[in-house]
Amino acid sequence: MLNFEFKNPTKIIFGKGQIGNLGKEIPKNAKVLMVYGAGSIKSNGIYEQVKKALSDFEVLEFSGIPANPEYEVLMDALKVIKEENITYLLAVGGGSVIDGVKFLSSAALYTGNTPWDILKNSIRTENGLPFGTVLTLPATGSEMNSGAVITRKETGEKLGMGGPGLFPQFSILDPQVVTSIPERQLANGIMDAFSHVLEQYMTYPIGAILQDRIAESIMQTLIEIAPRIMKNTSDYEAAANFMWSCTMALNGLIQKGVPTDWAVHAMGHELTALFGIDHARTLAIIAPSHYYYNFEAKKEKLAQYGERVWDIKTGSTEEKAKAAIEKTVDFFHSLGIDTKLSDYTAAYEGTAERVSQRFTDRGWLGLGEHKTLAPADVEKIIKMSY
Ligand code: NZQ
Ligand code: ZN
Repeated sequence: MLNFEFKNPTKIIFGKGQIGNLGKEIPKNAKVLMVYGAGSIKSNGIYEQVKKALSDFEVLEFSGIPANPEYEVLMDALKVIKEENITYLLAVGGGSVIDGVKFLSSAALYTGNTPWDILKNSIRTENGLPFGTVLTLPATGSEMNSGAVITRKETGEKLGMGGPGLFPQFSILDPQVVTSIPERQLANGIMDAFSHVLEQYMTYPIGAILQDRIAESIMQTLIEIAPRIMKNTSDYEAAANFMWSCTMALNGLIQKGVPTDWAVHAMGHELTALFGIDHARTLAIIAPSHYYYNFEAKKEKLAQYGERVWDIKTGSTEEKAKAAIEKTVDFFHSLGIDTKLSDYTAAYEGTAERVSQRFTDRGWLGLGEHKTLAPADVEKIIKMSY
């Protein structure tokens, strides 16, 4: 196992009816900006619950954060924060709203001229304006981590940011919010969380037995609850396990002491930036090719995953590893998720070269757990995903 430090300060408040406890978590004299998306919270009752819980506070609202939170929209929100002297941010939404609020938290205290530089120049956020979240969509794990991904349409970019100042102070996880989530977003949530585990697991053996077992158990849980929650969003037990699995998949725990990959996400973000494909679906496009392309380097963990998660008991390491990739693709298809770029766009020709060039331009010369995947490899992997 590798050396590590672990600190996660986010308080999780989990369960039925917990949105009602929101007011206890926010400082008494806070001036709150409640930030949300296109308005799903107004039709599923979450908006009323939040407003009721905040009745003792001075609250302003900012709505309209789009999926893949857009820089220009966030800059409008930043103006409100500054003009109104907001002291506390509350995200009510999925990963996009939460990530948007993380950007705002950082940008509100940023002293440079152009907040985009936080993303462009990978400036770590040590301190941000305090914020909490009410999660409405299990998927990203953003509710319990310190990362965010922001999109800028003007330049076709989608870049990450983070730092210890960007953990939410608290996150309220009421699994009942799952009842109103459309099938497409449910599938996305399962897919995204599953991929987060794979990124932190599908590398090479390092003797981190407990991390491996935790990672495998999250994947097993997602596989078990996927058909249940897709069939019936009112299945509270399935919803609760779905929600907690998504949080556990990316709250930092399973990545401690192990090598991590994240190349699938790096390539996937480019497909969202270029084509607007849902984040989770870009991962389903890239992952199979990535595992076939890096088969030699990853085959031992692939085989272990095949044995333990998919119950593949016979065959050589190579055969088990290959069968494991096939099972994974079948699982993505079972969620109704297509796994080829050409399933999403007719204009896929040239994508591999474009993405590879972008990586070169950004100086990203070594992706993956060994930092050996060059832009030329990225080009080949993406071509395999057509
Ligand atoms: O806009 P609203 O009205 O909120 O509707 C949203 C949106 O249309 C809807 N929705 C959310 N909760 C709902 C609901 N609809 C009905 N009932 C509910 N309870 O779902 C749609 C998608 O929401 P979004 O927040 O975009 O989805 P998700 O949570 O999948 O977030 C995706 C974003 O997170 C980033 C992705 O890149 C993408 O930008 N990620 C963030 C990460 C992180 N911070 O750690 C890691 C991830 O790998 C990922 O990159
Ligand atoms: Zn993801």
